[in-house]
Amino acid sequence: MQESLAQEISLRCNLVEAKLQNLLPSIDSAPATIHQAMYHSLFAGGKRIRPVLVMAASEALGGDREAALYAACAVELIHTYSLVHDDLPCMDDDDLRRGKPTCHVVYGEGVAVLAGDALLTAAFEVLAKHPANGAPVLDMVRHLAVAAGSQHLIGGQVLDLEGEQRQLSLQEIERIHAGKTAALLGCCTRLGAMSAKGSEKQVELLAKYGFKLGMAFQVIDDILDATTSSEQLGKTAGKDEKAGKSTFVSLLGIDGARDAARKLTAEAMQALEQLDSDNKQLLVDIADYLLERNY
Ligand code: IPE
Ligand code: IPE
Ligand code: MG
Ligand code: MG
Ligand code: MG
Repeated sequence: MQESLAQEISLRCNLVEAKLQNLLPSIDSAPATIHQAMYHSLFAGGKRIRPVLVMAASEALGGDREAALYAACAVELIHTYSLVHDDLPCMDDDDLRRGKPTCHVVYGEGVAVLAGDALLTAAFEVLAKHPANGAPVLDMVRHLAVAAGSQHLIGGQVLDLEGEQRQLSLQEIERIHAGKTAALLGCCTRLGAMSAKGSEKQVELLAKYGFKLGMAFQVIDDILDATTSSEQLGKTAGKDEKAGKSTFVSLLGIDGARDAARKLTAEAMQALEQLDSDNKQLLVDIADYLLERNY
């Protein structure tokens, strides 16, 4: 990653870290176990790309940075909950996440399920605290609920589970990726745009950019699973093949998957080109970086 982009991202990540700490109960609040488990997964060193996308989309429309932070924290809470549950023995059964033992390995399955539930619930509490600056907060809450719900994130996870040990078509894999990953990324840029009180056209273009980027993001995740070490990823590598998952890589090979990720990123950029904004360089740079990322 370019030094200047790394600085732009880290500046926003620091704001998100501080706001998350500020909005959540402290780690030693009673009952201590649940808060320790939540902090274990939330502050383990994720890339925080989703909250950064919320903020960058808001900034592209001249939004207030402090206001956008609430939606930024909310999407990271949803994302982290989805990882805690994704790693459970009854799902992907992973013992490494963000470079640390997974939540259920440290705290047991019962507490890990509840930590996921608590992170999910906290997301809506946090988003509802969005300052009253004229942004359509109730619609934002609804969009986040839909993106995280049974027809998108959870629906995608269901299809992902049901697809194990079966050879899926490209269309079926696209549907899984759209649900489990792209819906939330599309919601990130949508919420950023809504927090900045963007026009309907601006909101839809930014949501499209985020969705296409999310599709590319999951294709790259599948490529990294097949090509990169667990140390580099901070999570177990080579799991998709072992679990018999159909992915862009299993269907198209590494080169074919990389072509698909490039095409999806180009589609994200096209949406951005149509956006009426004079501050979209950060969104362009993030899209380029996500295509080249190595963890
Ligand atoms: C991993 O997401 C799960 C997917 C949806 C592919 P990230 O790669 O953003 O994970 P963290 O947040 O950096 O740990
Ligand atoms: C996870 O997809 C998507 C969600 C958590 C919603 P993966 O199962 O591919 O993510 P990793 O590879 O475990 O991070
Ligand atoms: Mg999974
Ligand atoms: Mg997984
Ligand atoms: Mg994966």
